[in-house]
Amino acid sequence: MEAPNAARFFLYFCSSILLFFGFSATLRYTFHLMLKDVLIEGRTIADAALERLLPAGTAYPPSIHQAMRHSVFAGGKRLRPILCMESARMVAGALPAGIEDLGAALEMIHTYSLIHDDLPALDNDDLRRGRPTCHVAFGEATAILAGDALQTYAYEVLARLRCPAEARVKIIEEIAHATGTIEGMIGGQVLDLEAEHTRPDAKTLEYIHRAKTGALITCSLVTGCYYAGATNVETQRVREFGRSAGLAFQVADDILDVTQTSEQLGKTAGKDVAVEKATYPSLYGLERAELMAEQLINTACSALDSFGARAETLKAIARYLVERKK
Ligand code: IPE
Ligand code: IPE
Ligand code: MG
Ligand code: MG
Ligand code: MG
Repeated sequence: MEAPNAARFFLYFCSSILLFFGFSATLRYTFHLMLKDVLIEGRTIADAALERLLPAGTAYPPSIHQAMRHSVFAGGKRLRPILCMESARMVAGALPAGIEDLGAALEMIHTYSLIHDDLPALDNDDLRRGRPTCHVAFGEATAILAGDALQTYAYEVLARLRCPAEARVKIIEEIAHATGTIEGMIGGQVLDLEAEHTRPDAKTLEYIHRAKTGALITCSLVTGCYYAGATNVETQRVREFGRSAGLAFQVADDILDVTQTSEQLGKTAGKDVAVEKATYPSLYGLERAELMAEQLINTACSALDSFGARAETLKAIARYLVERKK
């Protein structure tokens, strides 16, 4: 009797293990598919809104409109519109009507920051989103003006958002602040440039990354909350999520710079080492930087626990932010 029982137990044990791994592999596969759909759907919605909102390339004067379109429609991942829309969906249960215009405005501002980031006076890059940078294709003066124009045009779009006026004003303030000099994108860019060829301490590096990149990521999520009419408590949790996920995003950008090729990234790889930029891999080493990005994503995800199953999509996007290959 002993031997068959042991054999049966062994069989049960093996089949449960197989079932468990089969089940979790299926779950992972389903989730992977779901995330892919969310990213594709978000990108399609954002692209359509940008196409509808931006002046045609033929609009007078055509050179500036062509330059704006050259940089906007060059295969960006549209992560800020996607984060904005998914944050609103998590709060409201569905995409609120007209949210894509907010996403498009965020993407215009992000693209303006990229055009200026690439200028000879800043990072001096000639490849962006798989294309020659704006100043290489259109000249420096037009590129500066195309960045400016994308920013001012974004505010025109924001002023017309189809949400309650109070939310609209809060959205505009949030975006202006996140891209400004106090813990915002421009402040971060200034410090990033001043830190070249130096070795800033960990606190300064964290500040730079939170400001130059994290602030606009957080702002995309928070403005999605405002648009969807979230409570203060809900918005605060989303802000905490964005704070960690936004920093992790720039850590991942630093990591990709040293692990991927220019062809894969669509922008010049190895650039940070060449000009001795202050980055997480340069300060902590690649392995530790990867671990830190992962830990930041875990912290980010736990900030959304109170949303339950509704937070699964944003959590999956957060993991993608650090697992992406471009
Ligand atoms: C690149 O941002 C610039 C950073 C803030 C690190 P993305 O990696 O989102 O670039 P695109 O929009 O997909 O081109
Ligand atoms: C860019 O940081 C941050 C902003 C554009 C505000 P990086 O300089 O690291 O971005 P990439 O690597 O050129 O995209
Ligand atoms: Mg830069
Ligand atoms: Mg750069
Ligand atoms: Mg970079």
